[in-house]
Amino acid sequence: MARAAALSFVCQNCGTAYNKWQGKCEGCGEWNTLAEEDVSGASSMPANLRPKRKGRVFPLESLTGATQDAPRLPSGMGELDRVTGGGFVRGSVLLVGGDPGIGKSTLLTQATSMLARAGHRAVYISGEEAIAQVRLRAARLGLADAAVQLAAETSVEDIIATLSEGKPPRLVVIDSIQTMWTDTVDSAPGTVTQVRASAQALIRFAKKSGAALILVGHVTKDGQIAGPRVVEHMVDAVLSFEGEGSQQFRILRAVKNRFGPTDEIGVFEMTGLGLREVSNPSELFLSERDLGSPGTAVFAGIEGTRPVLVELQALVAPTSLGTPRRAVVGWDSSRLSMVLAVLEAHCGVKLSGYDVYFNVAGGLRIQEPAADMAAAAALVSSLANAPLPVDAVYFGEISLSGAVRPVAQTTARLKEAAKLGFGRAVLPETARGEPGGDAGLSLTSVGSLTSLVAEIAARGKARKSREDA
Ligand code: TYD
Ligand code: MG
Repeated sequence: MARAAALSFVCQNCGTAYNKWQGKCEGCGEWNTLAEEDVSGASSMPANLRPKRKGRVFPLESLTGATQDAPRLPSGMGELDRVTGGGFVRGSVLLVGGDPGIGKSTLLTQATSMLARAGHRAVYISGEEAIAQVRLRAARLGLADAAVQLAAETSVEDIIATLSEGKPPRLVVIDSIQTMWTDTVDSAPGTVTQVRASAQALIRFAKKSGAALILVGHVTKDGQIAGPRVVEHMVDAVLSFEGEGSQQFRILRAVKNRFGPTDEIGVFEMTGLGLREVSNPSELFLSERDLGSPGTAVFAGIEGTRPVLVELQALVAPTSLGTPRRAVVGWDSSRLSMVLAVLEAHCGVKLSGYDVYFNVAGGLRIQEPAADMAAAAALVSSLANAPLPVDAVYFGEISLSGAVRPVAQTTARLKEAAKLGFGRAVLPETARGEPGGDAGLSLTSVGSLTSLVAEIAARGKARKSREDA
């Protein structure tokens, strides 16, 4: 009897397998993501006919013991090392995701070149571009002289055979994992089964040889690394490279990191000569401030271990629609709704007849609750047509009762503000006891959102009467 091929329907989003087709994947809830794949794997022989292999005895190790020299290799790019936690770990695997055209290939070309210049064996395998294209980019970046070993290949077996020759590589970049294919499975490149098997083979090579492996992964429209979620579980760290299309700032963020922090960001600027590291992001985010216009507030935030000042912009305008618009870029829209609800419920600010647009300048995405107060200040400032003082920074979390709650790292926030020439800070009341006043700023502590609103509204009135006079 002929053996039926082990066909199965595999969700291209999360990798869940079904034995019949269905519209919705129960694993991840996505629709129309199931595709037919041969999941029989390398061996098509039934299990009972396969030759039995006797297990090999391997030595078990203790937790202590001689570790290999220099387990981490700094890339020489400070912002990249900050996100990885101090450099590439031997035998570790990193997945870098990001929209097409965001600069993944550029970033990794720069990183491999830096390592090659430092005398390490660094290999760049492109499955998407021809050698000439990669060379053209390197020439544009002024890195054509770096001794990077380059190939345009997609066969995992060939790649591993090549890498196993000679001195073990210190860094291997695979751009991208979706273009790789292995002989061991029959599915087409880019399918979950192929990507998973290719990643597995490459990861096995990295662990065995001690090379650091970087896999580039495509992302889908909603920012997930395309296809194999499973690959995210197989790797040691997942970095996401983000940016707002039109702006030149790029932010590298660790989504998962077994060997380092997950809240650090690396900031880059895309220039005509490649990515430039931005070691003081506050200066960059505040560089094009609209001084003295209503609706902007400077938020003193913390990204990882580093304080970052960023401008929040709000536009509150009368609506012509039945349901007013709420549009947010760079912040959580439910967080905005919450701040708007607190303003309505506790501070008597009526916003139901207004459209609200909210934007974080510079393409940064803010996750800290400490941004609440700065956001509220920007919103009220726009509504009351009252510019906020240009030398003030704001931070503090707002609770549903309208109270302003303290946040961590007051000192670091104030120091950064002082460094950039700000003269005053509006902050939660309880933060006053903390050291930080010595940063030289004049501190205005706010216990509830109501008092902040009243203060801004008074400015608006004063301005109006000045204009009328
Ligand atoms: P690329 O690294 O190819 O992106 P990805 O690999 O993420 O798809 O970068 C592509 C974009 O970056 C492209 O639009 C051109 C721009 N770019 C510059 O602005 N300056 C440069 O020096 C380089 C190399 C690219
Ligand atoms: Mg690319």
